[in-house]
Amino acid sequence: MSTENKIWGGRIQQPPSALMDAYGKSIHFDCKLFDADITVNRAWALALADAGILSAAEAESIRHELAQIQRDYHAGKLAFSPADEDIHSANERWLTERLGDLGARIHTGRSRNDQVATDVRLYLREAYQELQQALTDLLTALVTMAEEHVQTAFPGQTHLRQAQPISWAHYLLAFFFQLQRDQQRLMDGYKRCNYMPLGSGAIAGAAFPIDRHNLARELGFTAPSENSYDATADRDVIIEMLYGCSQIMTHLSRLAEDFIIWSSEPYGYIEIDESYTTGSSMMPQKKNPDSLELLRGKSARVIGHLVSLLMLMKGIPTAYVRDLQEDKEPLFDAVEQTVNSIRIATGVVSTLKVDNQRMVQALDAALYATDLADYLVKKGMPFRQAHHLVGAIVAEAEHIGVPLDELTLQQLQTHSELFNEDVHGIFDPQAALGKRNLYGGTGPESVRQQIDLAKKYLGDGPE
Ligand code: ARG
Repeated sequence: MSTENKIWGGRIQQPPSALMDAYGKSIHFDCKLFDADITVNRAWALALADAGILSAAEAESIRHELAQIQRDYHAGKLAFSPADEDIHSANERWLTERLGDLGARIHTGRSRNDQVATDVRLYLREAYQELQQALTDLLTALVTMAEEHVQTAFPGQTHLRQAQPISWAHYLLAFFFQLQRDQQRLMDGYKRCNYMPLGSGAIAGAAFPIDRHNLARELGFTAPSENSYDATADRDVIIEMLYGCSQIMTHLSRLAEDFIIWSSEPYGYIEIDESYTTGSSMMPQKKNPDSLELLRGKSARVIGHLVSLLMLMKGIPTAYVRDLQEDKEPLFDAVEQTVNSIRIATGVVSTLKVDNQRMVQALDAALYATDLADYLVKKGMPFRQAHHLVGAIVAEAEHIGVPLDELTLQQLQTHSELFNEDVHGIFDPQAALGKRNLYGGTGPESVRQQIDLAKKYLGDGPE
């Protein structure tokens, strides 16, 4: 092999070892940037014409040929050659094979450093849109289900121990608001990423009078990047996307964990639709929540990609270095896994069956202990004292082996004379919910207010 057909073949006379050649290639994954690279090339041809480097007719024939290459590529008519390191060199080769010297002019004033940074931003813009849409579908599924369960009470847990009754709608809306913040975070990331590196060259900026503002408009960017050194050196916009994905996956992983527990035999609060489960090869009775287990597993993978990028960036000199080629596989995989995981979560939520009966039956009388203390507070006892006293009552009930709500009034009155007949009204899930209609609480009025907020957000669109 000679170096003649390499885009850097003038300087390096000796071909790379076969090992190095394979090691350095990125085309098997950065081919994902094919369309973005064509778009960037087409816009660059126009910019070169505006700057007087190409005639309008030359730019037009380059643009025309690039469109043809795009069609041929998607029709499967183009093959990569062993000389193609990455998608940028392949596109330049195809153009040059078709247009000769004219094709060989496309890289004027440009480096793959600003080219790849621009291509990736075009990819990011689309990825952001895909994630936004997937999230909107999931948010809609959550609200739709919440509307049916404003009064479905179940044992809310802290430390995985029964804590206080809450409504299933309130629980679902917790995820709504978490994922809403994730969606807003993505919007924010989109705004920061939509600046155009093209024209930055390798580090110093192109030495031709390119109108970068015009070019940025042409490519739908907010503006050109402000500093060519920064634009070719950094990958913070990728890290921001990876953080956005990691945070979504972290939220979904906890939802998955909850659903796995609550659909397990001892709980049985919910049933996952068969279309999101798999059986066992050995045990005929099994219906395993594989969709949710995979979702939890994939969250590890996506968070790993975020950490990879942070590690990649932290010690390299500030400018383009080849290490940066390692940014793309984690990015592409994180986006793909996150979009798929959001869609899986949407499928699971929208087909979920809720067993109201099992939820109510699971409510332990001890869940009302806080309300019992509040009862005494309303009758004038300081809360700390009431807490202590109710703690002793709970211990006594446990000791004599009766549920808290089956203690007689007399037994309660041995602890405090403030107890009256009305105390037994406390042990009721709807009563417990109904006391919590303050803004943000689990009371039905408050939850309806949350649903209104959620619907308004979905109606207005994320901004
Ligand atoms: N494939 C390379 C990457 O993804 C493109 C940039 C190459 N630049 C260079 N100076 N070798 O980073």
